[in-house]
Amino acid sequence: MKISQAQFRARRAKLLQQLPRDSVVVLPAATHQHRNADAEYPFRQNSDFYYLTGFNEPDGLLLLLPGRPEGEYVLICQPRDPAMEVWTGYRAGPEGCCEHYGADQAFVLDEADEKLPELLDGRRSLYYPMGRSPAFDQRVQGWLGTLRGRVRLGCQPPEALLQIDSLLHEMRLIKDDEEVAVMSQAAEISAAAHVKAMQQCRPGVMEYMLEACISHHCVMQGARFQAYSPIVGGGENGCILHYIDNSAPLQDGDLVLIDAGCELDCYASDITRTFPVNGRFSESQRALYELVLDTQLQCIEAIRPGVPWNEIHDLSVRVITAGLVKLGLLSGDVDSLIASEAYRPFYMHRSGHWLGMDVHDVGSYKLKGEWRPLEPGMVLTVEPGIYVAPDNETVDPQWRGIGIRIEDDVLVTPQGHVVLTAAVPKAVDDIERLMQEAQ
Ligand code: GLY
Ligand code: MN
Ligand code: MN
Repeated sequence: MKISQAQFRARRAKLLQQLPRDSVVVLPAATHQHRNADAEYPFRQNSDFYYLTGFNEPDGLLLLLPGRPEGEYVLICQPRDPAMEVWTGYRAGPEGCCEHYGADQAFVLDEADEKLPELLDGRRSLYYPMGRSPAFDQRVQGWLGTLRGRVRLGCQPPEALLQIDSLLHEMRLIKDDEEVAVMSQAAEISAAAHVKAMQQCRPGVMEYMLEACISHHCVMQGARFQAYSPIVGGGENGCILHYIDNSAPLQDGDLVLIDAGCELDCYASDITRTFPVNGRFSESQRALYELVLDTQLQCIEAIRPGVPWNEIHDLSVRVITAGLVKLGLLSGDVDSLIASEAYRPFYMHRSGHWLGMDVHDVGSYKLKGEWRPLEPGMVLTVEPGIYVAPDNETVDPQWRGIGIRIEDDVLVTPQGHVVLTAAVPKAVDDIERLMQEAQ
């Protein structure tokens, strides 16, 4: 499943419709990131650029010019180059950009510094991703400088420089049907990968082996890249939120926390499961786990259009705080403990984030200063956790060093919500059964 060219065209049309007639949008493609010597990191297209083009080559530029008679959609791309293509693969070239990617006009990169001032000339406002990359900011300043040098020849440089983010990222926040289909598929692949990791887990297995198990499954399904570095933390390592060493042996009697999700056609999935290394929760592990699970289930249940974003987080804080009091990790009045943020040593992150092309996706969380209501088409994660630091002497030793997070990807629908990652078990009995069957 991939986003169709028709859908990319529809997105450009929708953005063009919202732009003033005398404006221009310029977006840069991503560039290769050097690793060392002749090695590069795997190329990942810039999400905004890909969202509007589906074009996966580095270093190009996208321009949208509403009302321009010669064409509203211009791509600037690498030239065809048989000698280079032997090394790095096929390039579309300007002709391919028009033929396969729907561009009205296309030019090669060498022509950019000549064409850009011409294309910006007479456009009153220029939208671009301002302040993201000093190199790109400088290029824009260069094109504007060229135009300023030509004002006596009648050139008119843009007067307003505007951030493109709010227009484009509002679009990206609400997923269209094709995006939902791709994200569902990414979610399903990752869910199956987590099931396999549960099945392969045994005392003595190394954390990186479960990472390999997850990555292997995803790659075999065509999802070659993870959306972020997988976290596989056994025991105390589960209390380190961004633990990516994944280098320790998994111990009998510990839990293991896996936070991993693949990327498919530039769309992310993001799943966390926490389960016992030996397949059986201890009493204390189970008690804390049930609290996180209850919190997560209540939060997911609350998701429907109209609910303000922060209500989900606030609910998670309330359920976790009340539960920690009940289990004796906190003591006092729940409202006062919430007001004084007494839960924070155990629950120090938010209940989730937007999910889309980026794992922590774009889109504002507030509108006009208020937390925004959920809308159909939004995808968010729900990922409460409880982490008891190994050296937390305020709690009984039985709780120390336990780290638990449970995370699913949830689509907001007109009726409420759909959990895209529901295929990985998370109820205690279901996890234990799955693991025992795999022994
Ligand atoms: N894996 C990153 C996150 O859960 O937010
Ligand atoms: Mn995650
Ligand atoms: Mn997440």
